[in-house]
Amino acid sequence: MGTLTSLGEDLFVVDGPTVRDLGIPFDTRMSIARLGDGAIWISSPVATSYAVLAAITALGPVRYLVSPTPRHYWRLARWHTLFPRAELWSSPITPVTLKDGDLPLTGLLGDPLPEAWTPDLEHVVLGDALLRESVFYHAPSRTLLVEDVIQVHELLPGHPVSNAVFRLSGLMAPDGGVSRDIRLTFFDRRAAREAVRKILDWPFRTVVLAHGPIVTRQAKAFVARAFDWLL
Ligand SMILES: [Fe+2]
Repeated sequence: MGTLTSLGEDLFVVDGPTVRDLGIPFDTRMSIARLGDGAIWISSPVATSYAVLAAITALGPVRYLVSPTPRHYWRLARWHTLFPRAELWSSPITPVTLKDGDLPLTGLLGDPLPEAWTPDLEHVVLGDALLRESVFYHAPSRTLLVEDVIQVHELLPGHPVSNAVFRLSGLMAPDGGVSRDIRLTFFDRRAAREAVRKILDWPFRTVVLAHGPIVTRQAKAFVARAFDWLL
């Protein structure tokens, strides 16, 4: 089970357990930002230990639980039980949203973001009707938070099927990328290109992937390479 790890100015990550989707194992990671007013904002919360929960609550009041991709919506349910007063925010619900019951959402992610989140956080919505991910930029730590749209998977000894799926999807380490099925959901290529250009305009130095490593070297080149098929 992961520990609470600081990534710089008021940004933290915790690695979660491996979860399975259609039998394929995925590493998980959540990101935690302490906003300017002291509130704690958590993206894609994961199952964790009591020690980590205690460390998070010591940072400040947990006020926002966020699923920036329809595929992580289910992860809000347990955390909503733990922090019933926290606001729940999700990317738009679509046929591919992985739900675990109906949750009392405060809102759907779009523009503008709640005022309390800015100026610490900005986002760009990437994708179309099926799969819309909010890619967040945490300005104080100059970090980009990416959930599903870019992934990097290591070769898993003894998992030939998973390895084949990741290889065919174009997600294998060291480079990973945007999976071929997600690329197919980008119907409006021009809008997607514009969104990626906005992302690349942010002066980020670090990329946190929910499914993959934390990229601290040549972060911008890493993102540009992941979208070279689009740009
Ligand atoms: Fe995911």
